Amino acid sequence: MDERKPLLEVRNLKKYFDKSRGFFKREKRILTAVDGINLHIYKGETFGLVGESGCGKSTTGRTIVKLYKPTDGEILFNGVDLATIPEKDMLPYRRKIQMIFQDPYASLNSRMTVTDIIGEGIDTHKIFDDQEDPELAKQEKIYELLESVGLKREHASRYPHEFSGGQRQRIGIARALAVDPELIICDEPISALDVSIQAQVVNMLEDFQKERELTYLFIAHDLSMVKYISDRIGVMYIGKMMEIATSDDLYDKPLHPYTKALLSSIPVPDPNNPNKGSRIVLEGDVPSPINPKEGCRFASRCYYARVTMAKENYPASFSNALIGKTSIKTILNPESREIIVAENQVITDFAATLIDELGFTEVLVGKAKCFTETPELVEVRKNHYAACHYIEEINKDIL
Ligand SMILES: Nc1ncnc2c1ncn2[C@@H]1O[C@H](COP(=O)(O)OP(=O)(O)O)[C@@H](O)[C@H]1O
Ligand code: SF4
Ligand SMILES: [Mg+2]
Repeated sequence: MDERKPLLEVRNLKKYFDKSRGFFKREKRILTAVDGINLHIYKGETFGLVGESGCGKSTTGRTIVKLYKPTDGEILFNGVDLATIPEKDMLPYRRKIQMIFQDPYASLNSRMTVTDIIGEGIDTHKIFDDQEDPELAKQEKIYELLESVGLKREHASRYPHEFSGGQRQRIGIARALAVDPELIICDEPISALDVSIQAQVVNMLEDFQKERELTYLFIAHDLSMVKYISDRIGVMYIGKMMEIATSDDLYDKPLHPYTKALLSSIPVPDPNNPNKGSRIVLEGDVPSPINPKEGCRFASRCYYARVTMAKENYPASFSNALIGKTSIKTILNPESREIIVAENQVITDFAATLIDELGFTEVLVGKAKCFTETPELVEVRKNHYAACHYIEEINKDIL
């Protein structure tokens, strides 16, 4: 972390959902949507949060504003831990932290006029109660907000369905700005908009940020979307934070295998960009966030988590060398077609002996650490964090 004081600091944040099934919920199924993440955001900066759909981005945003009760961890806003303060003390923070959602239609009450939608927060937080005519002051503020987001005064009496998607997102932004927040959590605010409208909304958010010293947590599922707007970026994968770096560092010198894979799937227009030409294809299934095993969440898809064990390298006993290793692929008995070891299963004594006897000379196994120990997010270079056991080996030439 550098010398600046963060406005928001999230430490070891967890949000689990209980999905247990059966009689008395005896089959315990815990969905670890957010599983111990750390991040900090400085005042006035934009922190981009990216990752594939379902990795826990929205849950992170919703837990920070306490729409969800955190399972564990700290949410320090200006040093105050929102995770533990009583609900009655949350009100001022519900004003200071606002959210903008992906689907402005779903997030705007269709039976309320624009005035009511934007004015709701002004009422809740009694913003103009000290004015001679609070209603008039509120209406003036709403007109002013509408104009500042590129809408008109006469739109104030209309309903959400009378607007286009881009206009509805503008109403969502006006609603967030109405209570003069310090931090806005923008949950994929442009993902549902036409490409032509996306840049307008992003530019508007940037203008407001400069004018009002706003801090943003900007969530997106696509790295190309956040590069332009973010100062720093965090990359999530199934409830875990895999890498955090400044936007430039993350693009130019990504350290984590997952980030590298994500970046290599973005078409690179710059011929000098080191990522060009080295397209990494993400293989394997995305593991379930329910009851996850120990180990790195990315292990089942990580190229570096695999090693080929060749019989010739183990003259003493190939079977002994295989015992306890995790097989990356399903190994079938070539004669009976029965499964000897299933994908991602540990090779038992019995299976190892059988593999050797059946004449296999190579077995693709996982590196033990990747499958048994969960890597911590550590500062690898100044202000560049990554969670991977083999980060130094993988990045030898650039560290
Ligand atoms: N309210 C909820 N109840 C149960 N599970 C949820 C809830 N919200 C999200 N999840 C689950 O948590 C995981 C993360 O979801 P989400 O945070 O929406 O991901 P993202 O925003 O990155 O697409 C998913 O597996 C999702 O099904
Ligand atoms: S810890 Fe292992 S599986 Fe995870 S990213 Fe690093 S090398 Fe890959
Ligand atoms: Mg989401």
